[in-house]
Amino acid sequence: MFRSRYCGELRPADIGQTVTLAGWVHRRRDHGGLIFIDLRDRTGLCQIVFGQGTVLHSQAEKLRGEYVVSITGKVVQRAPAAINKNIATGEIEIAAEELEILNAAKTPPIEIADPRTEPDERIRLKYRYLDLRKDKMRENLVFRHKIIKAISDCLDGENFLEIETPFLTKSTPEGARDFLVPSRVNPGKFYALPQSPQLFKQLLMVSGLDRYFQIVRCFRDEDLRADRQPEFTQADIEMSFCAEKDVMDLIEKIMAHTMACLEKDIDLYRGKHIPKINLPFPRLTWEEAMSRYGSDKPDTRFGLELVDVSGLVEAADFKVFLDVVGGGGIVKSINVKGGAKFSRAEMENLEGQAKQLGAKGLAWIMIAESGVKSPIVKFFKPEALQMIIDRLNGQTGDLLIFVADKLKIVNQALGALRVELGKKLNLIDNNSFHFLWVTDFPLFEYSETEKRWVSNHHPFTAPHGSWDDLEERFLKDPGSLKAQAYDFILNGTEIGGGSIRIHQPDVQAKIFKLLKLSDEETKRRFGFFLEALEYGAPPHGGIALGLDRLVMLLAGMESIRDVIAFPKTQSALCPLSGAPDTVDPKQLQELHIKSTS
Ligand code: AMO
Ligand code: AMP
Repeated sequence: MFRSRYCGELRPADIGQTVTLAGWVHRRRDHGGLIFIDLRDRTGLCQIVFGQGTVLHSQAEKLRGEYVVSITGKVVQRAPAAINKNIATGEIEIAAEELEILNAAKTPPIEIADPRTEPDERIRLKYRYLDLRKDKMRENLVFRHKIIKAISDCLDGENFLEIETPFLTKSTPEGARDFLVPSRVNPGKFYALPQSPQLFKQLLMVSGLDRYFQIVRCFRDEDLRADRQPEFTQADIEMSFCAEKDVMDLIEKIMAHTMACLEKDIDLYRGKHIPKINLPFPRLTWEEAMSRYGSDKPDTRFGLELVDVSGLVEAADFKVFLDVVGGGGIVKSINVKGGAKFSRAEMENLEGQAKQLGAKGLAWIMIAESGVKSPIVKFFKPEALQMIIDRLNGQTGDLLIFVADKLKIVNQALGALRVELGKKLNLIDNNSFHFLWVTDFPLFEYSETEKRWVSNHHPFTAPHGSWDDLEERFLKDPGSLKAQAYDFILNGTEIGGGSIRIHQPDVQAKIFKLLKLSDEETKRRFGFFLEALEYGAPPHGGIALGLDRLVMLLAGMESIRDVIAFPKTQSALCPLSGAPDTVDPKQLQELHIKSTS
């Protein structure tokens, strides 16, 4: 028998029992003739003592970090001075009676017992199996498991069926680049790995399966960031005979259930009690989110809202602003509360950031104790200055910043600066969870690269309002059409998105026409799907939660790589396996592929 109990579960109630434990040597300390081992398994640590002068003692001398052992001994009370309050098993220890070395270990390139020494991420990923031995990483994976289980259980309770959909499939329209897989038996043809199960989950609704979910891997070949991986996991959901509210209510129920199941774990991660979340979550229209926060995924844990001051610039008589407003642009401002303390260098840095974000400059007014400081007020009439300060509720100690440009650029620059400033001024409570919905997205957006209107989500998203006069509305103002689409936001990160779908083939055909997609192209790309709509598709809609992001945010991690067992690096490499890699020329030949590199 390798073990009778787990290390981390032993308590004073077990004193007197003989137990067998198995695990890894976390640390070895030699003290006054005694040898102490911290033995580690998935549940935690337990201290083992090897008495002086015993045969076992000399055997224990051979133990090194990460050796795999099985130990039998008696659970005993520790002396009061030896109690370790930092670990759950700190009141007891095991007086070793038998020791079996099951395997030796080389000195690991990662310091497992000391979380303060963190090697380079490449090393961590190359030896990921060792990195995952660390408490934090193991806890993250346990936490992830519990979240997936809570979500699945809740969906099961709501009559959703988990149904798998293919990985070897055709391109799906989520807007990223596909990963392609060549077909050996069909020369010159390729499967695409799914960017999401979008079309298949809709087909399941046509099949009458009514309520579908899947914890599913999605593949997107896009530039990677801290919250983006080439393969990531969605909790993917679709339901029939539903409206937007039904999908949002369901997600709120799932989140409340998940947060309740994980309450203890979340409190442990945060080191304090996190109050229950309140339902329903706030709902902001896309217009309002853009107007107040300059972002369609606003972080509402802090203020610093954007204010449109275009109406006031006339009186100010500042040419830069006047020209922008005259040319159809906009001037927006943020009252950076407490920002009057910024140094000249900090202001230059801020202006540099604004420029990097696409703004032409960053105008500012500092309301310091000593009076108003600003590079632009020399152009202002005094009453105009006061009007602007009043509009922004400016008080001593505040900094007012302004960007004048096209609406999109102003929102982009100030929206991102707002988040930077929130961090810089410590306005963000990292232990609070601000969930919210952003609704009423524009149905279409103009693509400068393609010089045409494209779907903002995917082309199967249902429009708001009547579906009869779509063309007229489109011709009048394509940008004004709104979608029955919603994004789910947590602390400024998009953790989900979905929509009500078009279920009528004639409406779908109209949308393709408006998007100027030829019959031939739509048939080639989505023909199989459009045909299905002709066989009695029910009204339906759904959503997908980005699981990696959700777990990352609930655990308070900085990167989704911290909550994925075997992630890729920023450049989409797997240092552990060496993927992607070259292949045997014979394999390429079989696949009818010639490599040019
Ligand atoms: P969407 O494209 O918005 O919707 O994706 C849903 C959620 O998945 C997460 N996500 C990612 N997470 C990590 N790495 C990535 N590269 C990545 N890309 C997306 C985000 C996002 O909110 N089929 C639709 C859903 C639907 O309409 O039902 C879809 O995939 O958290
Ligand atoms: P200038 O007259 O170009 O020296 O600009 C005076 C101030 O206005 C500087 O602080 C610039 O950063 C700022 N500024 C210039 N263009 C813009 C703009 N489009 N929006 C906001 N501020 C600007």
